[in-house]
Amino acid sequence: MSDSPPPSPLLQNHADRLRKAAALGPTLDLACGRGRNAIAAATTGARVIGIDRNLSALATLRHAAEARRLPVDPVRADLETSWGIPVRAGSCGAILVFRFLFRPLAGPICEALARGGILLYETFTTAQRRLGTGPQNPAFLLAPGELRELFGGLEILDYWEGLSDADPPQALARLAARRP
Ligand SMILES: C[S@@+](CC[C@H](N)C(=O)[O-])C[C@H]1O[C@@H](n2cnc3c(N)ncnc32)[C@H](O)[C@@H]1O
Repeated sequence: MSDSPPPSPLLQNHADRLRKAAALGPTLDLACGRGRNAIAAATTGARVIGIDRNLSALATLRHAAEARRLPVDPVRADLETSWGIPVRAGSCGAILVFRFLFRPLAGPICEALARGGILLYETFTTAQRRLGTGPQNPAFLLAPGELRELFGGLEILDYWEGLSDADPPQALARLAARRP
């Protein structure tokens, strides 16, 4: 995807885990947008289901996947409903969530993972407000330590909070975790 931003460093750092998790089931990219991370996950060998409510973003993802002959299925769904995530419990080898926060999904995300399945989650923290750019609505910002607490039922493999190397920097929390 030459015209889209690169995948997150969190995904790049855990690409080997994603490759292995592909044997457990498909990788779900929740709120995938145009799919910078979905495409990168598919290059590890995973079959990826990218879910978003934005049809235009999903069309971009579909074109990018077809151009590279990668197994990515874009699916339109609203993730902020009482329906949760449109997949069977225990069916996902990995779940990716980048730059999206809807706290009631934490439980359904854990349930959707297969045993041994991997969660990679990265989004903004309340420190973003001091930077004066990007998301400012507290509903979409994680409190210090909140991401780790939300997924306390999983085995935490990697956790980081701080300012990214991006220009301008972004205040982020990054989590890699495994369903025991
Ligand atoms: C900041 S973008 C992040 C896209 C991608 N995850 C990334 O990191 O490049 C947030 C995405 O969340 C999607 N989104 C927001 N609310 C949603 C909802 N209720 N259901 C599904 N997708 C949603 C938007 O359409 C958008 O593509």
